[in-house]
Amino acid sequence: MQKFVIRGGRSLSGELRLQGSKNSALPIMAAALLCRDECVLRDCPALTDIYAAARILNFTGCKCTFSDNTAVIDPKEIVRTDIPESLMHEMRSSIIFMGAMLGRTGECVVSVPGGCELGPRPIDMHIAALEKMGVDISSEGGRIVCRIPKRKAHGAKLTLAFPSVGATENIILCAVTADGETVINNAAREPEICDLCGFLRKCGARIQGDGESRITVRGVEELHGCEYTVMPDRIAAATYLSMVAAAKGELILTNACVPETEPFLSVLEQTGCSIYTGKDKIYLRSAARLRAVRERIRTMPHPGFPTDAQAVLMAALTAAEGTSVFEENIFDCRYRHTDALVKMGADIQVLGKVAIVKGVKRLHGASVEATDLRGGAAMVAAALSAEGISEVTGISHIDRGYERIEDAVGALGGDLKRFGE
Ligand code: EPZ
Repeated sequence: MQKFVIRGGRSLSGELRLQGSKNSALPIMAAALLCRDECVLRDCPALTDIYAAARILNFTGCKCTFSDNTAVIDPKEIVRTDIPESLMHEMRSSIIFMGAMLGRTGECVVSVPGGCELGPRPIDMHIAALEKMGVDISSEGGRIVCRIPKRKAHGAKLTLAFPSVGATENIILCAVTADGETVINNAAREPEICDLCGFLRKCGARIQGDGESRITVRGVEELHGCEYTVMPDRIAAATYLSMVAAAKGELILTNACVPETEPFLSVLEQTGCSIYTGKDKIYLRSAARLRAVRERIRTMPHPGFPTDAQAVLMAALTAAEGTSVFEENIFDCRYRHTDALVKMGADIQVLGKVAIVKGVKRLHGASVEATDLRGGAAMVAAALSAEGISEVTGISHIDRGYERIEDAVGALGGDLKRFGE
């Protein structure tokens, strides 16, 4: 079991090039299943979740190779339409293979992803929408068996009860080669949806309205392959900015997606950090001491404050002057990092979906365990700013989303070492 040992208290300064977005790359890899010839994805981050997606593609008969942040996917031959439970459980977002597989072959068997570290994560909206598009879905021994009697789904007018990212992606993936037009009302507006649509359009799909709450997809006969560069990771940007804000110092992020990171930047700016942005650069100089954020920080679907950045910003605010209040509106169990932060000296009270963070003078090092990806990153951010040494275990969660985090932190002058097998 690997762990990070972090000696805190050093300021962090330097330049980092942002990795490609995990949450874009995953649905785009699934989308490659729909194509008739090779797809080349550049800036694909080297992460365990991406390797899990590659294993799923290879299992189906697609040939997916990965090197130097480039995934080459040859989807000409699909020999399997069932994805084994073991592969499905490696990452929850494997559920987006459902829409792509249905679009390509008209059938698939997947597993219920079940609950995860963020709480129950139902897929009722995915299922209801696909059923309206002509997919027969039944549950057999814990497996979800999907079949389109006419082999091709048909377009439908759909309204989501909540702008779910995964449901919007699954519907788009099933709709691009369906018969007729699909309209998604109350669609998710996350930038990663636009990136998926950008890839699909480059392959010949006809999609309009992505980035808005009404998306229209007109089915086409087939998609061809393409070369595509995955967008930069706005959550990795929020993470490294929070780390430097917490530990003090200066950071230049290159390959940044500035407008997409704005909902996070506008809140971080209220802590007194100086932030300047260029076309694809973000510069941050931390405040001598951060100020608490006056307004309640409410996580909301994009363009609201992203739930994925809640934990890392909280880590930075634990030692701010004053009290900050968070309200988590997307997931039920997204405060699991708070116990670790409290162990490091933070003053945090969780009351249902609200967390009250009273700034303390300084955190101290402690042994803590990461229990989810962003919570783990928050522990690293806190440990870098704390006095003394911290150990973070459970780092396989962190490796799901951050490419070589020890190299990134090391390049900024931080002392973070990986130990263990
Ligand atoms: C995506 O998850 C991201 N994952 C998450 O990032 C992110 O936190 C989330 O969107 C919200 O932005 C990927 O893109 C791979 P949702 P997803 O469907 O698609 C409920 C990270 O840290 N819901 O928008 O699963 C659901 O339970 C990860 O990188 C239903 O009730 O999110 C949740 O409470 C974690 N029924 C809410 O909606 C459904 O059918 C939002 O989920 C679908 C969702």
